[in-house]
Amino acid sequence: MKIKPLSEEVINKIAAGEVVERPASVLKELIENSLDASATSLEVYIEKAGKRLICVVDNGEGIEKEDILNAVKRHYTSKIRTEEDLYSILSYGFRGEALSSISAVSKLTITSRTKNDIYGNQVVVEGGNLISLSQVGCPVGTKVEVKDLFYNVPARQKFLKSENTENLHNVWVFINYALSNPEKHFKLVIDSKETFNLYPSSLKERVSQIYGKKYLEDLKFIEYENYLGKVYGFVSLGNVKTRKSHIFINKRPVKNALISSVMKKKIGDNFFILFFELPPYFIDVNVHPSKQEVKFRKENVVVDLIESALKENLNEFKTFVVSYQELRQNTAQYQTKNGKFEILGQIEDTFIVAYSESHVYFIDQHVANERVMYEILLNQLKENKKIPSQRLLSPFKLHLSPSQVYTLNEMKETIERIGFVVENKEDQYFLTAIPYNLETSKAVEVFYEVLESYPDTS
Ligand SMILES: Nc1ncnc2c1ncn2[C@@H]1O[C@H](COP(=O)(O)OP(=O)(O)O)[C@@H](O)[C@H]1O
Ligand SMILES: [Mg+2]
Repeated sequence: MKIKPLSEEVINKIAAGEVVERPASVLKELIENSLDASATSLEVYIEKAGKRLICVVDNGEGIEKEDILNAVKRHYTSKIRTEEDLYSILSYGFRGEALSSISAVSKLTITSRTKNDIYGNQVVVEGGNLISLSQVGCPVGTKVEVKDLFYNVPARQKFLKSENTENLHNVWVFINYALSNPEKHFKLVIDSKETFNLYPSSLKERVSQIYGKKYLEDLKFIEYENYLGKVYGFVSLGNVKTRKSHIFINKRPVKNALISSVMKKKIGDNFFILFFELPPYFIDVNVHPSKQEVKFRKENVVVDLIESALKENLNEFKTFVVSYQELRQNTAQYQTKNGKFEILGQIEDTFIVAYSESHVYFIDQHVANERVMYEILLNQLKENKKIPSQRLLSPFKLHLSPSQVYTLNEMKETIERIGFVVENKEDQYFLTAIPYNLETSKAVEVFYEVLESYPDTS
């Protein structure tokens, strides 16, 4: 075998594979570029789940004529210059490989104008080949259009999931950046339908715009600062359960096993949105090209930050939810996986008071009951039974967020097997039947709980 260099084209496709996994990864890179360009308004257009089009229009600084060709070259960036800069990264991007990677596996058009220019410039690149460079009239800012993603990499195309699943990822990316930049205008249009139009607001209002008032009511704001950094955000007090919580480090949405596991230990599956502000030297985002994972210099400092934040802000409440198996036993002593419980009594038909290992627990019966119903359904499902339905006399109108709509479609089969029937008329969703053994008044809560239990697909 002779050893030979790979062609530039092959190198670019390999590099592209690391950055561009699916439409949502393109969307992430384009949104980050707009934010790095100090845009205050971002409009996102998606067609066919991003397989046909992913377009981001911003009102940021724009790209100068001399730079527009460099933007699509690999390792060309305006964001860092020296190795030292790597230890003080404040921008989302710095590797200078997103646009070149994207252009290698799609048909890319960049149209951009700076405020000092009268005309804008437009560059078209297809599969890594420059097609045209021209002067055009356009507003100040940048529009990046990515068409026919993976048109020249059929193997990649095959790995893409259904449009519904890909859109679930797209919406998740959009929500993440909209949450971490609430002072900016974010609009999302999917297949010509306006899915979100979020005007500049406070973080609290943004959470409400995205997740609805129902979520917000259940969220408690927490905040804590120590010598190293700061953490703030929202933690669910017990009614919103989901595996898809949000973690941001210096406004960058990340996945982090350490933070997730500490939170899980502290608050179980409760929903949370946490923002960490840490000095750039303390974290390393240069772990993977997608920059979605971070490493910490010292993990215990981060753990301490979270634990202190929860202790300072949450110790007024200690909600504890006992599962079906745990409540089923009818002795006064309850052995649970969290220890032995002794029931002391009941307050105002609402709280069960229990004692265990020198702690007194107030168990919200309403929440516990929902949980019990939920676990019964889950158990029957595990045994592969279809649960019979009872039709509701008057259908219940559901208020679903756009991502819940995608989740609903994704889970349709499971939901019907449990005994729920959801019908939709002109973009409105109605619960028309519920599991036979469920109290009507509880059905909606349980339904939302089932919806939120949908596993993280990423
Ligand atoms: N929306 C945008 N507005 C202004 N400049 C942009 C935009 N998108 C990309 N650029 C320019 O193109 C360069 C290359 O972008 P990219 O390939 O994503 O690399 P990186 O973001 O790591 O620098 C950026 O450094 C920036 O100068
Ligand atoms: Mg970038």
